[in-house]
Amino acid sequence: MKIASIVGARPQFIKCAPVSRELRKEHKEVLIHTGQHYDHGMSEVFFEELAIPKPDYNLGIGSGTHGRQTGAMLGAIEDVLQKENPDLVVVYGDTNSTLAGALAAAKLHIPVAHIEAGLRSFDRRMPEEVNRVLTDHVSDLLFCPTETAVANLAAEGITEGVFLVGDVMLDAMNYNRAIAEERSRVLEEVGVRPGEYFVVTVHRPSNTDDRENMAAILGALGEAGRPVVFPIHPRTRRCLAGHGLLADMPENVRVVEPLGYLDMIRLMAHAEKVLTDSGGVQKEAYMLGVPCITLRENTEWVETVEAGWNVLVGAERERIVDAIRHFSPGSRQMRVFGDGNAGVLIRKFLTK
Ligand code: UD1
Ligand code: UDP
Repeated sequence: MKIASIVGARPQFIKCAPVSRELRKEHKEVLIHTGQHYDHGMSEVFFEELAIPKPDYNLGIGSGTHGRQTGAMLGAIEDVLQKENPDLVVVYGDTNSTLAGALAAAKLHIPVAHIEAGLRSFDRRMPEEVNRVLTDHVSDLLFCPTETAVANLAAEGITEGVFLVGDVMLDAMNYNRAIAEERSRVLEEVGVRPGEYFVVTVHRPSNTDDRENMAAILGALGEAGRPVVFPIHPRTRRCLAGHGLLADMPENVRVVEPLGYLDMIRLMAHAEKVLTDSGGVQKEAYMLGVPCITLRENTEWVETVEAGWNVLVGAERERIVDAIRHFSPGSRQMRVFGDGNAGVLIRKFLTK
């Protein structure tokens, strides 16, 4: 089969690495990068570290408003799909690149496989929620990471072509965990000791675009009593500068450039706790057995909360400080993201 895989944003490079490795054992893959993320530290570094084949196409779409960015992708992807005429299009996650890829393919009557299907936060103000719902409803094959995702699809009437395969990010984690330990020097470079620091990532518009929320988050981090390492997403840097908060960072907060994947997982693995509004980081904290404090009021990854390893605190200073000081998972972890062989299962289903 000829399979066109569409990626564009940081988490999609990480998700595609284990799947692409599998697909190429039996199929021809054409890799299309929309160019949604383009800085070296947001894109190329992942291709290098994870040995992802160089994209066959980089559409160079770049940043823009939702409509302009998604629209530009739609046209450019359509051109490539018409030229390549693949048997199947694979899309990942919930970004604008996901929606554009799925929609372009569906309109050309090319079957669509969605990896990480069925996730819902039930918050339509999140741009990703709109992307998830629409992508799932134009997809023919829906590869779900969790049982909750399967149930979410069933509740919307989608039961055909649904496969529970586990989470491809667990495949990536298992493959790279020891490599990260061996190659990354991030703790030494940042100057923190294992178990004696926190890690924070923030990039959701509901936080970054709201000065009050960002001031509350930074204020809480200032009360952590330990170093907080903050690999900063370019969007967040831009917003903090606009809010006049970048120069006003609490002394214990160490802002660093976005990290490569190996540095990021080693940094998280040895943290006392992780604070984040990222979807992927919530999951990885769970996989690494590190308590997670989520700076949102809802999450798609409800299992991590139900298991007691993740707590939702929104962007409220007191709740964040309280969680930094007192949140402590009491229970053993349950297996919620599968067996770390999602890539293999996806290949087998596709081949069949
Ligand atoms: C996007 C996804 C989000 C995902 C995140 C992963 C959508 C709607 N959002 O959010 O779901 O969690 O990626 O990181 O698709 N920028 C740079 N350099 C880059 C990329 C972005 O400077 O390489 C800056 C630009 O100012 C840009 C802003 O970041 O306007 C936002 O980028 P964009 O891709 O639109 O959304 P993200 O916030 O990255
Ligand atoms: N990540 C990374 N470097 C960073 C921040 C995150 O490699 O500085 C990784 C993280 O480990 C996870 C993925 O990027 O694998 C999550 O992406 P992000 O938080 O940008 O998006 P989301 O998962 O929220 O869509």
